[in-house]
Amino acid sequence: MKKIVVAIDGPAGAGKSTIAKLAAEKLGYAYIDTGAMYRSVAWKFLQTGKPFDEDFISGLSKTMLIDFKPEAKINRVFVDGTEVTDAIRTPEVTAIVSRVAAIGAVREAMVDQQRRMGEAGGVLMDGRDIGTVVFPNAQLKIFLTASVEERARRRYAEMVAKGQQVDLQQLQADIAERDKQDSERAISPLRQAEDALLLDTSDMGISEVTERILQLVQERAQ
Ligand code: DC
Repeated sequence: MKKIVVAIDGPAGAGKSTIAKLAAEKLGYAYIDTGAMYRSVAWKFLQTGKPFDEDFISGLSKTMLIDFKPEAKINRVFVDGTEVTDAIRTPEVTAIVSRVAAIGAVREAMVDQQRRMGEAGGVLMDGRDIGTVVFPNAQLKIFLTASVEERARRRYAEMVAKGQQVDLQQLQADIAERDKQDSERAISPLRQAEDALLLDTSDMGISEVTERILQLVQERAQ
């Protein structure tokens, strides 16, 4: 069977990373979490303590090497050899990452790395612009979504399980705001590619969605 490129796009909290990671494991594919790459740039910028400056951040993004090391439960992320798996999920990084991801030169640097990571096929890549910009010729494109309410509930359950204190209404408002920023930005906004299959996971479980994707990969990889 051919090793294809699978593009999974969709808004924050639709379950993309959980599902993409599971599906990649079952297929023996590499899983590339492109959101983690933009988060890594935001993290590296915050480390410098400098004020927000597009040129400065663009410069940083061009010299960073981002690596993934998948393990059973987590997908470990490294920036220039330093592990940032947890550091890129802090509220500070989350608060600024949309602005970082809206910088054209940052996107160019990340898209270059993403294309190199995926060019040989056998890769499942998730993000916002994978099917529209990074791999417009991907053999399978999926647009994974769920209602804002359901996405907020899932994120809430995840954070509570980690012992974090969160307010569900606030979380929902933050997710809606991030959707807006990601969908309305000028460069590579979040949108469904014309040839992407829409999967609304509001009423679907993780294993059901994963199975559906595995089935689609098998069909397309013939
Ligand atoms: O999926 P996530 O929440 O980890 O993504 C972090 C941010 O990066 C989010 O604001 C959207 C942005 N992003 C992007 O612009 N393009 C991608 N391919 C992936 C993520």
